[in-house]
Amino acid sequence: MNRLLGMGMMALVGMTFACGGGEKTAETTAEATPAAPAKEMTLEEKYQDDPIYIKGIEKIKASDCLSCHMVERKIVGPSYAEVAAKYESTEENVNMLAQKVINGGVGVWGEIPMPPHLSLSEEDAKDMIRYVLLLKK
Ligand code: HEC
Repeated sequence: MNRLLGMGMMALVGMTFACGGGEKTAETTAEATPAAPAKEMTLEEKYQDDPIYIKGIEKIKASDCLSCHMVERKIVGPSYAEVAAKYESTEENVNMLAQKVINGGVGVWGEIPMPPHLSLSEEDAKDMIRYVLLLKK
């Protein structure tokens, strides 16, 4: 009788440990999962829900910008993250950079010129620039 009770207790204790272990694993996983992507979050992920981002990326995709600019890597032109780090998103800078995209420019980032985009409206160019200047780390 006593022995049987003892075995029952052992079984119970064993189960409790098993459950405890299981919970601990689940906790560890739950903690690790949100932390990992937050650390490696790209600027696209960071701003993708911003209305400025949504409006700007649509117009950028419809133009040729992406053949020379990437968000976080310099290719022909500076990365948008670099441009965003250099300029505050003020009305003045948005106007100045929109004119630069429309008329072309050279000499700020190097010797390679950006060709003009004369068919772009001022409004479209400004929406693109607001998107670019949003991409701060
Ligand atoms: C043929 C390649 C090319 C294309 C296409 C292009 N760019 Fe550029 N872009 C450049 C280069 C090169 C520079 C650096 C110019 C300089 O040093 O002044 C630049 C610079 C810029 C800058 C920073 C200007 C400054 O004075 O700091 C912005 C903003 C920009 N581009 C946005 C755009 C947008 C928006 C588009 C699409 C409408 C676009 N670019 C298309 C090559 C390009």
